[in-house]
Amino acid sequence: MTSDTTATLAAELPTYTRWPLTIVRGSGSTVWDDSGKSYLDLYAGHAVAATGHCHPEVVRAISEQAKELLFYSNVVALPIRARAAAAIAAQAPAPLTKVFFVNSGTEANENAMRLARRATGRSDVISFEGGFHGRTADAISAAGLAKYRELGRPNVPGHRIVPFGDLAAADRALDANVAALLIEPIQSLAGVLTAPAGYLNGLRELCDRKGAKLIYDEVQTGFGRTGRFFYAGKDGVVPDLVTLAKGIGSGFPMGAVLVSEEIAAKVVPEEYGTTFGGGPLACAAAVATVAVIEKEALLANVVRGSRELVSGLSRLRGVREVRGEGFLLGIVLDRPARPVREALLAKGILVGGSDQSDVLRLLPPLILQAREIQTFLAAMAEVL
Ligand SMILES: Cc1ncc(COP(=O)(O)O)c(C=O)c1O
Repeated sequence: MTSDTTATLAAELPTYTRWPLTIVRGSGSTVWDDSGKSYLDLYAGHAVAATGHCHPEVVRAISEQAKELLFYSNVVALPIRARAAAAIAAQAPAPLTKVFFVNSGTEANENAMRLARRATGRSDVISFEGGFHGRTADAISAAGLAKYRELGRPNVPGHRIVPFGDLAAADRALDANVAALLIEPIQSLAGVLTAPAGYLNGLRELCDRKGAKLIYDEVQTGFGRTGRFFYAGKDGVVPDLVTLAKGIGSGFPMGAVLVSEEIAAKVVPEEYGTTFGGGPLACAAAVATVAVIEKEALLANVVRGSRELVSGLSRLRGVREVRGEGFLLGIVLDRPARPVREALLAKGILVGGSDQSDVLRLLPPLILQAREIQTFLAAMAEVL
């Protein structure tokens, strides 16, 4: 870090334990620090740089939109907002047909819970041990990771937490006061935990039988990360609501709730709102992101790259297990993950940690190439 940078950073509230680098530039799956050193980025700014850093199509779309109209709120129609909603809804399974734009993942979850409460006339929400849904009041109260829930005290009443993967426990907890089940289909921060076979199907049946809504938090799994555009629809399970953020704008802040026809039909104007959600720059970024994912066949790239990563990593001494799907992978090590992450950083490779001290997380851009995967595997072999 240069002394100039250090002086400038001193005014920031110290909210994060920071990695020892200052990033100034990015392109594709590479970022550069303020001394000019390059890093292969398998973290993507926390699963955000879906199309890579500064994808030219995304940059062009944002710049062109900026020259036309920087902002107008939801009180008027914007062609670019309508296009973004149509582009996203076109990727979603029926009956998820409507989109409500917000600014972040936590806001998407707050609004999804409210939509479910108003649609059912019920108050409570079931979520799952290990889950993470954001840091605003209602979302943090749904955190299954207790340390976050505690940070959000006093919690919003009516949240019930059940074990992830235990259908009978969800059945017992789901009574006539429950409006919704809120679940990450793959629990990322918890250490990349996938649901047991048939579990999500079972939750869908429970919700149908007992009149509750199913919300998938796809803030991480959405927008191609698992090799499908959305996890919604996988194995025939379609939730009533899907929340999105992270990769949706390839780095431009945005969140969204995908809403079923049935719930959308109950929405009364003025009950939901946001000033900045669905702003033109974010919408331009989202339209470009969808287009790049399609044009560059990024879903296929994720499936192919994931196979290479999993098979390469599974052969390494020191790797106990590789969990997850697509480019949302957890590497379970036979040792603490942090020194491994730090040694990789020293070699110019960025990977993430998780809530489990022996699990590293990979959340790379969807554009990651075979040669970059080989660079990472070689570095990993040396470090381990
Ligand atoms: C699964 C999941 N849901 C929600 C959120 C909250 O998103 P945001 O930080 O954009 O509010 C996150 C953030 O890491 C997340 O991983």
